[in-house]
Amino acid sequence: MAPQRMLVRIMYSALLFALHFQDTTALTKNPHCQNKCGNLTITYPFGIGEKCYLAERYAVTCNHSTNSAYLDFFESQVFNISESDLLIDAFPVLDLEFNKSSGENPGPLEVSSGPYFIFPTARNKLVVVACDAYAYIVDSKTRNLVTGCATFCNRPDIVPPSSSNSSCAGIHCCQTSIPKDISDFTIQVHSMNTDQKSWASDNCNAYFIADKDFNGFDKSTNFSNCAKDRIFSDTVPVILEWAVGNTSCKNASRTKGYACRENSDCVEAAGGGAYRCGCKRGYKGNPYIKQGCKGNA
Ligand SMILES: *[C@@H]1O[C@H](CO)[C@@H](O)[C@H](O)[C@H]1NC(C)=O
Ligand SMILES: *[C@@H]1O[C@H](CO)[C@@H](O)[C@H](O)[C@H]1NC(C)=O
Ligand SMILES: *[C@@H]1O[C@H](CO)[C@@H](O)[C@H](O)[C@H]1NC(C)=O
Ligand SMILES: *[C@@H]1O[C@H](CO)[C@@H](O)[C@H](O)[C@H]1NC(C)=O
Ligand SMILES: *[C@@H]1O[C@H](CO)[C@@H](O)[C@H](O)[C@H]1NC(C)=O
Ligand SMILES: *[C@@H]1O[C@H](CO)[C@@H](O)[C@H](O)[C@H]1NC(C)=O
Ligand SMILES: *[C@@H]1O[C@H](CO)[C@@H](O)[C@H](O)[C@H]1NC(C)=O
Ligand SMILES: *[C@@H]1O[C@H](CO)[C@@H](O)[C@H](O)[C@H]1NC(C)=O
Repeated sequence: MAPQRMLVRIMYSALLFALHFQDTTALTKNPHCQNKCGNLTITYPFGIGEKCYLAERYAVTCNHSTNSAYLDFFESQVFNISESDLLIDAFPVLDLEFNKSSGENPGPLEVSSGPYFIFPTARNKLVVVACDAYAYIVDSKTRNLVTGCATFCNRPDIVPPSSSNSSCAGIHCCQTSIPKDISDFTIQVHSMNTDQKSWASDNCNAYFIADKDFNGFDKSTNFSNCAKDRIFSDTVPVILEWAVGNTSCKNASRTKGYACRENSDCVEAAGGGAYRCGCKRGYKGNPYIKQGCKGNA
């Protein structure tokens, strides 16, 4: 099994593992919880330190020397936590290893959302760095083609690399947005023979899903002769949507572990397979804390 497949499995098996954690709703939030790590505000259900988070999967570790925050669950740095999303450095940069004789890439790669951390794919994009290759995403449920892009390897005597301001616009690199949210999908990457099988000699191959605003390469990135590990780190930032329960609002409200407190409403996530909470109209605050939603007096 290729290491890339392992990585994605590990990432998502961690999500499945989370199912075994019980929601500890009886837990009262310690008033001494630190809620800042650098300039990042950590709000409950996320928290730093024991009794500061709702469940293990929301545990954050702050490195005080670098002021960087890590979500323990993914063992990844988290850049932003909002009411519904995380911006987290967690998507593995995947190797593209074309078979030198057939040109086949041993795909497809399967990616699926977990119940508590959901892939809002429409806020992320597909990026492929390769020579003469095309890539596409298929919705695993409907089998529909969702998006795709192609990357060509020009010969510098024909198209100078500096002809485009964007360094990922179809020459040596392509990227495409994902038009809708899909929870389970496969990524396929294939070689094509437009420039004397240039995929065979190129060693600057990688692909990944990243936050739409990810701009890891700049105009100075030279894709013409690079080793993958010189332009990429192991992971890239992605947006994940978080949820507090693994069932619909209707089902959740009947359970003991229902997380939405006074003056809050349940908000469906992941197409009804998960939920979050939000303060009712006219109230502000934290819907996961007792008396957390306060009226605007
Ligand atoms: C949801 O989580 C509970 C425990 O929190 C678990 O018992 C249950 O199996 C989970 N349900 C699904 C559909 O994953
Ligand atoms: C925190 O500060 C850094 C650098 O000062 C900045 O790049 C980052 O966007 C800030 N993060 C947030 C969540 O404001
Ligand atoms: C914090 O980050 C620094 C620099 O990356 C590292 O050397 C140190 O071990 C980290 N501290 C903890 C507690 O992880
Ligand atoms: C963090 O998320 C909030 C809410 O979505 C957003 O307004 C803010 O711009 C984000 N900050 C960064 C640095 O991404
Ligand atoms: C590469 O492709 C050739 C021809 O299709 C095949 O015989 C060979 O087993 C493939 N090699 C690998 C490592 O998959
Ligand atoms: C390309 O870059 C040049 C110089 O930085 C700038 O003047 C020009 O507006 C840019 N073009 C586009 C389409 O962004
Ligand atoms: C990019 O790398 C190739 C191969 O090493 C080299 O020939 C070319 O001059 C480089 N381009 C730039 C703009 O540095
Ligand atoms: C809600 O509960 C019903 C009945 O127990 C069950 O059939 C359904 O799958 C549940 N929905 C979710 C999203 O867990």
